[in-house]
Amino acid sequence: MTSLPTALITGASRGIGLAIARELEATHNLLLGGRDEQRLKELAATFRSAEPFTADMSDDEDVERAAKQIAGLDVLVHSAGVATRGPIDQMSRQQWRDEFEVNLFAVAQLTTLLLPQLRATNGQVVLINSGFGLMTLPDNSIYCATKWALRAFGDVLREEERPNGIRVSSIHPGKVDTDMQHDIVEYNGGEYQPELYLKPESIAKAVRLAVDATEEATVDMISVRPTRK
Ligand SMILES: NC(=O)c1ccc[n+]([C@@H]2O[C@H](COP(=O)([O-])OP(=O)(O)OC[C@H]3O[C@@H](n4cnc5c(N)ncnc54)[C@H](OP(=O)(O)O)[C@@H]3O)[C@@H](O)[C@H]2O)c1
Repeated sequence: MTSLPTALITGASRGIGLAIARELEATHNLLLGGRDEQRLKELAATFRSAEPFTADMSDDEDVERAAKQIAGLDVLVHSAGVATRGPIDQMSRQQWRDEFEVNLFAVAQLTTLLLPQLRATNGQVVLINSGFGLMTLPDNSIYCATKWALRAFGDVLREEERPNGIRVSSIHPGKVDTDMQHDIVEYNGGEYQPELYLKPESIAKAVRLAVDATEEATVDMISVRPTRK
């Protein structure tokens, strides 16, 4: 690793997180989050300076083990996330638990574990939230609840950490052309039309704007929506 600042991106194995990693590659040493160590190693080798951050975000012991290996950190991007679809009367308590584990509890735990490192660098936390953290839609109860809760978490964290010099940004994408949307179209039926979706790179540019803000400026929130959908 060189003397550039370090960014940890969860969910960097694919989709939005991978696009963020590609965007930050020129200016940061990267820790790439995901579950498959071998795949992450191969992916890291395609970057200028990157190492795997292998952890199952639904497993608190695994998150703690992985976080302990991080000595210094400037930017923490939370992009790992899952989405369950279906009406409320078909959702089990376990489904609620499972999605909250990844979309919220892991974010809170990993952030808490890394606050000392982030305070030491006047670092930044970037939360990849969703349009569903700003509005709701039927069949998306669990996902919306996790993202509204993530928004509350980010808003409180921002105020608590202001005196410590940490800046917190919440990015709210509309529908993005990733595996997650492919799965949704499969669930709903119908034809996948990529041109109707945001490119992951467009969300990465919003993250870049937040990360590049000078130290006296916090980008609180950015909403990015597809033009045609
Ligand atoms: N796509 C959209 O339309 C959209 C819109 C708004 C917001 N978002 C949000 O953007 C973020 C990224 O979504 P995406 O579209 O890029 O999703 P994606 O293509 O489905 O990728 C999900 C990422 O999360 C990781 N992940 C999932 N469960 C995990 C777990 N238990 N432990 C560790 N990593 C886990 C995956 O790692 P593995 O490769 O190891 O599975 C993968 O890197 C999510 O927070 C999502 O809610 C997406």
